[in-house]
Amino acid sequence: NEKPTALIMIFGATGDLANRKLFPSLYNLYAKGQLDKFAVVGVARRSLTNEEFQLRVKESVTEHGEAAANLDEFVSKFYYHSHDVTDSSSYIALGKLAEELDENYRLDGNRIFYLAMAPEFFGTIAEHLKKDKLTNVTGFKRLVIEKPFGHDLESAKVLNKQIRTAFSEDEIYRIDHYLGKEMVQNIEVIRFANAMFEPLWNNRYISNIQVTSSETLGVEERGRYYEKSGALRDMVQNHMLQMVSLLAMEPPIKLTTDEIRSEKVRVFRALRPIIGEEVNDYFVRGQYGQGSMNEKEVPAYRQEEMVDPDSNTETFVAGKLMIDNFRWAGVPFYIRTGKRMKAKSTKIVIQFKDIPMDLYYQREQTVNPNLLVIHIQPEEGITLHLNAKKSGQGTEATPVKLNYANKGIDGLNTPEAYEKLLYDSLRGDATNFTHWDEVALSWSFVDNISAVWENTNEHSFPNYESGSMGPEAADKLLKNDGFFWWPVTEIDVDNC
Ligand code: BG6
Repeated sequence: NEKPTALIMIFGATGDLANRKLFPSLYNLYAKGQLDKFAVVGVARRSLTNEEFQLRVKESVTEHGEAAANLDEFVSKFYYHSHDVTDSSSYIALGKLAEELDENYRLDGNRIFYLAMAPEFFGTIAEHLKKDKLTNVTGFKRLVIEKPFGHDLESAKVLNKQIRTAFSEDEIYRIDHYLGKEMVQNIEVIRFANAMFEPLWNNRYISNIQVTSSETLGVEERGRYYEKSGALRDMVQNHMLQMVSLLAMEPPIKLTTDEIRSEKVRVFRALRPIIGEEVNDYFVRGQYGQGSMNEKEVPAYRQEEMVDPDSNTETFVAGKLMIDNFRWAGVPFYIRTGKRMKAKSTKIVIQFKDIPMDLYYQREQTVNPNLLVIHIQPEEGITLHLNAKKSGQGTEATPVKLNYANKGIDGLNTPEAYEKLLYDSLRGDATNFTHWDEVALSWSFVDNISAVWENTNEHSFPNYESGSMGPEAADKLLKNDGFFWWPVTEIDVDNC
């Protein structure tokens, strides 16, 4: 186990992400002994003393993590800098603090700049870091940057250009927190460490793949951001397309960052662009209306705070993706994501083709197609759906499931995505971060769809009830191809 040493500067240290995810994750790394020498500088606008900041960190770990006796020692390494993102003198003062901490804690001149704040400042900060010499370091320097990475291809390019003035591509760690999820990382192992799947992993044996990420929460306090984003930019451009690329990529020559990334990029290049009128044949959008969740009435999206009462922003997207290469020609990858749906669930269903001749059908029995289900969350595991003989007389077939619950393997709770990603950024492993080429290609795919949606006013919103599985049109999308969505809420790994 490598033990990284670094000064970690968190911009946006008083924000929600730092509070809910970053501090508890850092603490977990610390408690597991996975950090060597380190110190943290919290950077944000409001004025706080070091002690006040340390108290906040303590509260965050107590509330969102698993605090233990060494918490005081942990927070003693936290410092605070009240910052103006546009003012050079503020960066110069921050630089001085960084140098002092580097010396006192012997941090080898290694620096992580973590931008956990409003994206409109990413470019300005990166430019100042360079200009005011915070990036002049003797060790490594890395930029960890949260989504959204731009709003479309053009804005992403502008942002990328700005951050590239201070950091090279291999120093930039673009977070997609889905890539830190245990079972998303497991896709690679399931595919490439088993002899029995890869030979079948193509258009000869797979009929379609379904990736669903449904949420029960609504837009919560994020109306202002979400109104401009919608589900397409918020979930599809990043998390959903990333999962598809891991499912579809060719086996890499080696399991190195560059080899894996270049295979993923080839998937994005093979993704068939959906343009103009085709958008309506391949994509469905939805917006939640009122409904009942856990027997509680919830408002429609248009009634949420900071949301236009006539908003046409989509809170649901279903789409059919085609990957035009030898392996996947003809196999639809269906994706579906939305807020205020029936269950919080992320699942991948790989549906195999029917057996060549259905002997059992002739006998008026149905056999189900084989499915491989990868349960990403909340439960983690794999289920293989097969058919076997029903016990008793005769040879009647009946569906059965082979079930692997991930937590069962070593009895350990799997670490949170942020813990893994923080650790990776500290030890310099960029495999589970998105490369610029992936970002650019996924934006150009998504831009074609939003171009059409933004020019057609949808008058039928809201078109799905809160607590449902989305609009009917999403079911039709599959029905037209002779398929249906496997009911993700009923194929839980724990219930098998
Ligand atoms: C974020 C989106 O990237 O992912 C949110 O901005 C969404 O809108 C969240 O709720 C979902 O993440 P998870 O890990 O809860 O599935």
